[in-house]
Amino acid sequence: MTRCHPKATFDAIALIEEKIIGSARLRLVKKGVGGIAYVAVLPEFSRQGIGTQLMKFLLNLAQEKGLHTVRLRSRVTAQNFYQKLGFSPTIEPFIHIGIPHVDMQLEFY
Ligand SMILES: CC(C)(COP(=O)(O)OP(=O)(O)OC[C@H]1O[C@@H](n2cnc3c(N)ncnc32)[C@H](O)[C@@H]1OP(=O)(O)O)[C@@H](O)C(=O)NCCC(=O)NCCS
Repeated sequence: MTRCHPKATFDAIALIEEKIIGSARLRLVKKGVGGIAYVAVLPEFSRQGIGTQLMKFLLNLAQEKGLHTVRLRSRVTAQNFYQKLGFSPTIEPFIHIGIPHVDMQLEFY
């Protein structure tokens, strides 16, 4: 069950012929700060720029909403993907639910 206020959560989806092939979620965490999670693209559509488009859509939205910082928790395998979008790691990698992760952050100004 989602406990976020509905107006504080924004989902971006990528569609091909009404089939969802990718998604990502922006959540307003506190004043000026958002979090992105649930970023995924179907494997058969990977490396075609779809994840980047989803992220850019949400990052533009974050700026429109007046956020100055966006945070996320990335699998280490996706760290390069987020770095290309301007995110930087904030701590050393750690194990979360059995998988190596790293916390990352992007500041707009
Ligand atoms: C990570 C993920 C969302 C990327 O989506 P995508 O649509 O394939 O990403 P893009 O095509 O926009 O990739 C842009 C760039 O990010 C980098 N990148 C993307 N996936 C990568 C990977 N698996 N390993 C290394 N670099 C990667 C590449 O530099 C890529 O550019 P290139 O293809 O020109 O080399 C997708 O692979 C995925 O759903 N993975 C499984 C779930 C996951 O890891 N989610 C995020 C972590 S919590």
